[in-house]
Amino acid sequence: MGDPQLLEISAEVDPIDTATLEPLLQDMWETMEEANGAGLAAPQIGVMQRVVIFGYQTNPRYPDAPPVPQTVLINPLITPLNEVQEDGWEGCLSVPGMRGIVPRFRDIRYRGYDQYGNAIDREASGFHARVVQHECDHLDGVLYPFRIKDMRHFGFIDTLAETGVIELQPCDDEP
Ligand code: NI
Repeated sequence: MGDPQLLEISAEVDPIDTATLEPLLQDMWETMEEANGAGLAAPQIGVMQRVVIFGYQTNPRYPDAPPVPQTVLINPLITPLNEVQEDGWEGCLSVPGMRGIVPRFRDIRYRGYDQYGNAIDREASGFHARVVQHECDHLDGVLYPFRIKDMRHFGFIDTLAETGVIELQPCDDEP
């Protein structure tokens, strides 16, 4: 956070060329896994294209979260299924060491393409929907702190954990 590039709108991927995307995606999966992230957007590694990845079987950073299918999502489009919003704690690899409570649509439909050009069209709720909204925000230059309604619920992971506001996970000292 602070890098002006993270505030830019990323470009549509056209055409979706598997061979061109492969090294980018490999870099993104490695970056995400090293940080135990739930997802990552291409602008976070300096590539201003509408590509996000997310998903895991189990995630040490979010031990209570249900699995989210491992997904490459290109040129995503999100549609809320209703008006219901839910508050939840979020962190971001571009905002290391911090957490905040962010309202997100609880139920969404998301569409886009994988790296082979296959269409993706899914409905998601809860944490899955939250991760997709968080990652796709990066493509429009939006970081989660911009969406925090009550800044009292934004803080350093260490301090939030020491004071019992959040439960610290073993991996939380990583970026
Ligand atoms: Ni993020």
